[in-house]
Amino acid sequence: MAEHLQSRQMASFMAPCAPLLLLTLSLCFYGVIQAKPLSDLTSPYLSPATFPASYQKMLKTFKIFAYIPEKLQPFGTAVESLFHDSLLKSSFITTNAEDAHLFYLPFPHDSSRNYRGIVRLIRNLRTDFPFWNRTLGADHFYVSCSGIGMNSDRNIVELKKNSVQISCFPTAEGRFIPHKDVSFPHLNDQHLHAPPGNGTAKYLGYLNLNGSGDQNGKLESTFSNELRGDPQFLVESEASDPALYAERLSSSKFCLFFYGGDVSGIGDALQFGCVPVVITERPILDLPFMDVLRWSEIAVFVGAGGGVEGMKKQLGRTCEGDRYERMKNLAMVAGQHFVWNSSPQPYDAFHTVMYQLWLRRHTIRYARWESI
Ligand SMILES: *[C@@H]1O[C@H](CO)[C@@H](O)[C@H](O)[C@H]1NC(C)=O
Ligand SMILES: *[C@@H]1O[C@H](CO)[C@@H](O)[C@H](O)[C@H]1NC(C)=O
Ligand SMILES: *[C@@H]1O[C@H](CO)[C@@H](O)[C@H](O)[C@H]1NC(C)=O
Repeated sequence: MAEHLQSRQMASFMAPCAPLLLLTLSLCFYGVIQAKPLSDLTSPYLSPATFPASYQKMLKTFKIFAYIPEKLQPFGTAVESLFHDSLLKSSFITTNAEDAHLFYLPFPHDSSRNYRGIVRLIRNLRTDFPFWNRTLGADHFYVSCSGIGMNSDRNIVELKKNSVQISCFPTAEGRFIPHKDVSFPHLNDQHLHAPPGNGTAKYLGYLNLNGSGDQNGKLESTFSNELRGDPQFLVESEASDPALYAERLSSSKFCLFFYGGDVSGIGDALQFGCVPVVITERPILDLPFMDVLRWSEIAVFVGAGGGVEGMKKQLGRTCEGDRYERMKNLAMVAGQHFVWNSSPQPYDAFHTVMYQLWLRRHTIRYARWESI
């Protein structure tokens, strides 16, 4: 129940300053006003009291039935195949469908455009197995890096409306349904090691355009041009080699990202205690682990409207008192959930995605098909 309420609170995760206000308001409404003030939080989790036990329970009891096609075409991205392989090798898989909490639909390569293949697959399993009809797909999940878009076919409508989709963050608009869908954090392919150092930050903010230059639109180029002239910021256009990149992350207080641009470094930034600053023109509804992590405690969300000045003011406020140190520590704790391993480790990205699926195991069971 607590988990449910808290994920609802995250629904209000809109404008950069709104979450604190809304969170405070909703705390009042739920009558827990005597709870610790937000500024005293010492956990990056939405439900610090229940997360460890619930995670352990998941490891022991969560069961998934996978429909295995005779021939599975390769996935389009490395993160999709890694998740698929990790899942099939895990102890979550059961061959007894009656024991299963959820059902896994492995989709063929390029599922976002190959709707005909998906339609055929769902039509077949609808007639060959009793499970789809019980919930019209609500206890089923699938992986599609780019997400499923609108389509009028009944099979796709049920899949999109009811089944849990796992897509890659950031997901295109209209291809992610908050509270139902989840997103993968980026698969970081370089193994970074913390450089030796005394922990003194050289820069207030670090922006790595990672070779994407000015392709990413006006907002990004306006911001980055302005920041280039500011000695408190380091702007790099090209991707650095891993050692230098790790050095940058650990010697900057904040790491800047443009939502819609290259956000692939957010997980690295968290692990290195470089508090992510996400500059966005619209609400972000598909952050990885949104119903596990308290994002407002591990990252700063800045509206684009105030420009660089507005952002610097907001960063200044974040640095008041011990708030920054606390955020940095919480960010590093949260960072472990963004690590992908070829062989899954406790609390890593694979297990945290599984945990999100576990939170979604109580599904509505429709009695019959109703027109939409
Ligand atoms: C599921 O429902 C459809 C009609 O919507 C029906 O054609 C199909 O046979 C049902 N599947 C099973 C296994 O009973
Ligand atoms: C940490 O190292 C930097 C140079 O890398 C130096 O300027 C700074 O004074 C050092 N800080 C402390 C507390 O030793
Ligand atoms: C940078 O861009 C490359 C190519 O698009 C990508 O593989 C990599 O993950 C990106 N991120 C970082 C932090 O280098």
